[in-house]
Amino acid sequence: MLDKDTLSFDPNVARAMEFFRSQEHYDVSPLIEIDGPGGVKVLAKDETGRMGLGAFKALGAPYAVARILAEAWEAKTGEVLTPARMGDADVRDFAATHTFVCASAGNHGMGVAAGARDMGAKARIHLAATVPAGFADRLKALGAEVVRSGDVYEESVAEAIADAERSGATLLADGTWEGYTEIPKWVMEGYCVIAEELRASFEASGNWPTHVYLQAGVGGLAAAMAHMIRLNWAEQPELIVVEPEAAACLQASHKAGKPTRGEGPESNMGRLDCKDASIVAWSVLERCDVRYETLTEDEGQAAADELAALGVATTPSGAAGYGALCKRAAAASAGAEPRPLVFISEGPA
Ligand SMILES: Cc1ncc(COP(=O)(O)O)c(C=O)c1O
Repeated sequence: MLDKDTLSFDPNVARAMEFFRSQEHYDVSPLIEIDGPGGVKVLAKDETGRMGLGAFKALGAPYAVARILAEAWEAKTGEVLTPARMGDADVRDFAATHTFVCASAGNHGMGVAAGARDMGAKARIHLAATVPAGFADRLKALGAEVVRSGDVYEESVAEAIADAERSGATLLADGTWEGYTEIPKWVMEGYCVIAEELRASFEASGNWPTHVYLQAGVGGLAAAMAHMIRLNWAEQPELIVVEPEAAACLQASHKAGKPTRGEGPESNMGRLDCKDASIVAWSVLERCDVRYETLTEDEGQAAADELAALGVATTPSGAAGYGALCKRAAAASAGAEPRPLVFISEGPA
């Protein structure tokens, strides 16, 4: 039975903002405007350059790495670690004794690797056969050990869990399941920074979006955004969670009223190709009044192609929110969607 504490989500976004403001590579990501279907002006949060890592996931794992090490340091020494202290030799020597392990469809692993490197710790990333070789190269360039594990994402997750149990390394997953939720909630706390950047921008412009399209894999991004939007945005948009038809685990869980697999073949929206939802993300989304949309493989590709024609280079995963907007625009009149917001969640592979 899933209890309330397991499924709760009460992020301390001020702490996450403080951490990132202390980081050399942090900057507010651009909010651009593009000409969408039917002449609709589309707001697009461009995460393609985030922290030099190419995707919004750069805000999740590095923050969790820092929090885990800060808690371990405090337990050992009694000292509360400030971001300013994290570069000091004694803290880095301590971090060097820690290894972080995860499975990844690509970008989460980049965040774990970069976070570990920044703190002086080690990282080992499990990649399924479906993850492009380019990610393995980029991970190695960040100093991570890369292990090819299993044919599909879920198999690499099982391998990462087994690795952590065997080796004593810290498992830093972005998904959640019964008995494992605390660390991924910190990952999601990091993502909340994006919603705060957007809130600041919309408060300044008064130009609040009417619809927000959130592409989802395990659901961490969508849930973090939905939670923050419902919590403190002055004008409330419609929220649409977008998944590949081949991996619609959040929609399946919503329909079933309990965590449920989204079965299907391999998707070319590779970073969204997660057949099991994060139970925390599913539960948060249940509380946030969201609607669900799925994309076919062709629709995902067409969305990336259309964005490329508009000068925005991304992948079908990065374009999926835009794809759902295009799909709806075909059915509804342009006037029904006056100011949509989408996320370009990664740059080109
Ligand atoms: C580019 C991109 N977009 C969206 C997502 C979905 O994020 P989540 O798995 O938190 O739902 C991911 C996840 O890896 C991603 O890499």
